[in-house]
Amino acid sequence: MNTIVEFVDEKEPNVDIIKLAGDTIRKGGLVVFPTETVYGLGANALDSEAVHKIFIAKGRPQDNPLIIHVADFDIEEFVEEIPPIAKKMMDKFWPGPLTLIMKKSSKVPDITSAGLDSIGIRMPSNSVANRLIKEAGVPIAAPSANISGRPSPTDIDTCIEDLTGRVDCIIGGEKCKIGLESTIVDCTVEPPLVLRPGGIILEMLREIHPEIQIDPAVMIKVEGSFKPKAPGMKYRHYAPKAPVKIVVGDLEKTVAKINEIVQNYIDDGKKIGIMASNETIHMYPKGIVKSLGSRSNLNSVARNLFKTLRDFDNDKVDIILSESFEEKGVGIAIMNRLKKAAGFELINADT
Ligand code: TXA
Ligand code: MG
Repeated sequence: MNTIVEFVDEKEPNVDIIKLAGDTIRKGGLVVFPTETVYGLGANALDSEAVHKIFIAKGRPQDNPLIIHVADFDIEEFVEEIPPIAKKMMDKFWPGPLTLIMKKSSKVPDITSAGLDSIGIRMPSNSVANRLIKEAGVPIAAPSANISGRPSPTDIDTCIEDLTGRVDCIIGGEKCKIGLESTIVDCTVEPPLVLRPGGIILEMLREIHPEIQIDPAVMIKVEGSFKPKAPGMKYRHYAPKAPVKIVVGDLEKTVAKINEIVQNYIDDGKKIGIMASNETIHMYPKGIVKSLGSRSNLNSVARNLFKTLRDFDNDKVDIILSESFEEKGVGIAIMNRLKKAAGFELINADT
């Protein structure tokens, strides 16, 4: 497949290109587009054949449902009902990085929801995404625009690398502002449940409903018969080529522990990547060290995480050792993605 790649400026988007991309979606094609969270791989959410192509292009398991992206608040036709709590969250956080799970209507094909009777819906705030959905005139089903299992793309080059030849069109150009996928809240249960943490943090959600909880599968390894509520959370995700290990505990001890492990690997002739922070980057004399950003600005860490994981692929490291971050605010989402990238391999620095 010949893939068209077009740069679109967020502030002054080229309307002709967005029209072309919208036509492509309406006619059943695949378009990669930017959002404020990560890039999406979109198709007409109401067209089973088009949605099927998404699963093929990504190599995505068929039991993993897609999120549909809308550009206005009239979502009644896609859901059985809008629970009052969902309405409140829409009013407060849309457009923005929040996906709400509701009971779906028969208008949404089963392939889009992977056979579930519910559907995730979100309204992106990115202006290119917003215009694309309007041009297409249909809701757009879009997972992250990566080959399944790889870290989600936060810039256009990564989309080009993963999906050239697999999609009709790639538009965008700017780096994603948030860098982690949307927060997912299941509104079919009471109290609502966070299935995936993201840029809309728990504290913000609890202002709307003080009892909102986080699905335990977000922070701990899912084993045995215990199933996460978001089917996608059960796969090893966000994974660079090299295995990732996270060192947890006191920061000073973490640095010492990482340096000790690095030395052991180097003695074995291995190449090591270290994910550090601005505060610690100068404390690692050996290994390939990259900073995720400042500990006092976890939003920057969130923005850099997926790209940094991918950059270590280019360095061809044998293993990646990462510092950990406080599980508070957006730190919950950062640690969720890191733990999944690491397959929950944690090393305690305090012992
Ligand atoms: O920020 C985002 O949400 C990005 C951008 C492109 O909008 N999209 C994204 O999609 O992250 P994806 O497909 O990579 O992740 C969707 C997640 C999966 O874990 C899936 O299992 C879960 O949402 N999900 C979708 N529909 C669901 C449903 N009805 N019930 C439970 N989980 C659902
Ligand atoms: Mg994804």
